Amino acid sequence: MDREMVNKRGRILIVDDEAMIRRLLHQKLSREGYQCQEASSAEQALGKLTSNSIGLVILDIKMPGKSGIELLPEIRANYPDTAVIMATAVTKMDIAIECMKQGADDYIPKPFTLDEVVLSVERGLEKKRLELEIREYQQHLEQKVEEQTREIGKLFLGAIESLVFALEAKDRYTAGHSRRVTEIAVAIGRELGLCPDDIEDLRWAGLLHDVGKIAVDQLIQNKPGKLTPQEYEHIMIHATVGAGIVKPVVNEKVVEMIWHHHDHYDGSGLNQVVAGEDIPLGARILAVADAFDAMTSDRPYRPAMPVDEALNEIRPGAGTQFDPVVASALLKIPVGEIMLQKCEIC
Ligand SMILES: [Fe+2]
Repeated sequence: MDREMVNKRGRILIVDDEAMIRRLLHQKLSREGYQCQEASSAEQALGKLTSNSIGLVILDIKMPGKSGIELLPEIRANYPDTAVIMATAVTKMDIAIECMKQGADDYIPKPFTLDEVVLSVERGLEKKRLELEIREYQQHLEQKVEEQTREIGKLFLGAIESLVFALEAKDRYTAGHSRRVTEIAVAIGRELGLCPDDIEDLRWAGLLHDVGKIAVDQLIQNKPGKLTPQEYEHIMIHATVGAGIVKPVVNEKVVEMIWHHHDHYDGSGLNQVVAGEDIPLGARILAVADAFDAMTSDRPYRPAMPVDEALNEIRPGAGTQFDPVVASALLKIPVGEIMLQKCEIC
């Protein structure tokens, strides 16, 4: 029997306190192509299981010291992919049945014929092989479902993103706003050392932060003069409406960022329920990026502010409207370069 054939058939550990039985089984099973190891006690068996990859154990129930019945649960817990065949006297069949209940794969009644043992070994290994195949199939299936769920989520997000861009494109004052806010927010996030997952969440929150404007009256949004308190309140519903729109397709962090993107750091914003560090960091970043882009863009009631002037407007808001750490991060990032790209991403 060549080495490849031996490996293919599996490695067997024969655990029996009787040397004669071990030798007989070893000889027979080796002739059948199995690589065999022997252990005369439960303790020795555990040692061999640790250092060898064993496919199947033939375990004598009655041994001095730790019995086969006591060893079985340990093998089941630590080596779930190893098949176990219990060897027991014909008169102790109730014990054999109990072992099967505890996870043994088969049993061979003593005295046995060697051919019976070979058949039982084949059955035990085949059972384990099938179990392994089913488990791999299930894992593959779960992975496939996860991948497709992610794919469907991406498609939904892409559709919502297109909706945002279409909404903004209708209005020359807001065209490209979400993309620019995203660029600035991501640059701030990197400056603050956010991990790649948080940056990805911030990117989605930036792109989708104003999707709730679909519920806002266009006439009020584009009003050239100062808004009345009622009009301002109406426009501000876009944060909660937007959070509700994206909730089914993004994670909770992104929802929270969108929900709180108009919160003031000191808690003075409209209908605000959290303040300071309790406002999600992503929302505090979006607040700064959003305000900066709004200032440097034309509005119906005023022309765009130069970058330096807008930065000077952000500074005094640090600690009141804006998180001071986030505001100072904005001052450190190359806003000039980002603004140069502004026309390309508008
Ligand atoms: Fe907004």
